[in-house]
Formats: sequence, structure tokens, C-alpha cells
Amino acid sequence: PMIYAVTPTYTRYVQKAELTRISQTLALVPNVHWILVEDSDEKTDLVRNLLAESNLLVTHLNQDPRWKKHRGVVQRNAGLKWIRSNLELNKDRGVVYFMDDDNTYSTKLFKEIAKVKKVGVWPVGLVGGLNAETLILDPQTGKVTGYRSGWKADRKFAIDMAGFAINLDLILTKREAEFSYKMEKGFQESEFLSYFTTKEELEPLADNCTKVYVWHTRTEKPTVKGLVPGLEV
Ligand code: UGA
Ligand code: MN
Repeated sequence: PMIYAVTPTYTRYVQKAELTRISQTLALVPNVHWILVEDSDEKTDLVRNLLAESNLLVTHLNQDPRWKKHRGVVQRNAGLKWIRSNLELNKDRGVVYFMDDDNTYSTKLFKEIAKVKKVGVWPVGLVGGLNAETLILDPQTGKVTGYRSGWKADRKFAIDMAGFAINLDLILTKREAEFSYKMEKGFQESEFLSYFTTKEELEPLADNCTKVYVWHTRTEKPTVKGLVPGLEV
């Protein structure tokens, strides 16, 4: 299957560093199509050039912010819209993953994503006030019974954006499923997943959720006191 990785991104000092890191991770992954959606009213040359040099299979989109309070919402929806207008049920095979530009991804994660039949889940490191958020599995059946999350573990799906992927068939079937400004902050993942599946149906991956292959790292905002002319950083 093809992995469709949807990444919202926005202009700031660390953008090129982040996109370099993530594009070079993706260069090690077979069968990935990167859908990069700029949070801007126009595509930027910085991103255009970086993508051209990456040799990755990419689709470059942009979607202007509208409402800054919710990060990445309309950009992820623009990615979904592209997928639904360009891919066809029963012809294209794949898995959709929402890949923020600042997290750290092991190449092993993508081997897990490729296994997703409906909705796959796995632990995410360094998030929600814990060393990792993870799924609680029934030792007998191996099914998900609950969540270890430092923040609102009673959400229907207490899973970070980095902790799940959805089969393309489902994305193309449930065409109304979108992120929305109406969803409370921190409930985007839970409400989006509710369109597709139930807790009982989740597919625990990464060795029954015993391995961490993605970390919710956040890059410190640098203090820039001067600009060297003529350098794209
Ligand atoms: C957490 C979650 O891990 C995100 O998936 C979720 O979107 C976010 O909270 C939220 O709902 O606010 P966090 O590290 O706080 O992540 O968020 P960022 O990494 O700053 O942003 C998530 C994604 O949106 C990134 O790919 C970032 O480049 C993008 N973004 C951020 C924009 O496109 N525009 C912005 O103004 C800010
Ligand atoms: Mn982040």
C-alpha cells in the first residue's frame, strides 16, 4: 500500500530545519506520498525548492489559516480533499497518516502504518505529560480496552494525532469525515476517529503497543537578533 502522509506546515525560523528532517526520514521509506499543506495564502519558494530537491513523491498544497486558534485544521482538511478528489475506492490502496512537521519519526513506524486494515494505533512518546501515551490492551484478547494519557484519558479516543493511521478505503468511504473548528481544542483526534471506528475495533500495532516509534518533540523557538543577508535558512 501507499502511505499518504498529510503534513500541515507554516513559515517560521525553524521551518526549513523541520522539513529537512522529516523529508530525509521519508526518503528512507518506500511507497510514501507526502502531501504537504502550507498554512499560507500562497505557496512559498522555500517549500517549493525543498520539495524539488527531495526526490520524494509529493503533492504541494496551501490553505490559508482563517483561524489561528486551531493549528493545522483546515490544512489537514485540504489534504483530505485532495485525497478524495484524486484517489479512487477499489483502485488505489493505501493508508492515511497525519504527520506533523516537528515530531520525530522512526522509519520502523512506517512498516506498522503499512499494516493498517481499518484504523491502527500505537504509543506516542513525550506527549500529554507522560513519557509516552499508549493504549491499554486486554492481555487475553489483545484488544484495546482503554488509554494511558496524561490529558483527558476519558476521551472516546485519547490518542494524539501521531498515534493513529486510517486505511484509505475508509477515508474514501466516510467522505464527510473532517476536522473542524467546532471541535474543542484537544478533541480533534477523538472526534475525527469517531467517524471511522470504535475502541473495540482499533488495531494495536508496534508489537502490541510495547514499542515507541514516534515522539511528540517540539522545537524550541530560537531567539534571532539579526539576519545574515543572502542566506535562506
Ligand atoms: C498537538 C498535536 O500533536 C497536533 O497534532 C495538533 O494539531 C495540535 O496539538 C493542536 O491541535 O493544536 P502541537 O505540538 O501542540 O501538537 O502543535 P504544532 O506542532 O505546533 O502544530 C501541529 C501541526 O500544525 C504542525 O505540523 C505545524 O507545522 C502545523 N501548524 C501549526 C500550522 O500549520 N499552522 C500553525 O499556525 C501552527
Ligand atoms: Mn508539534
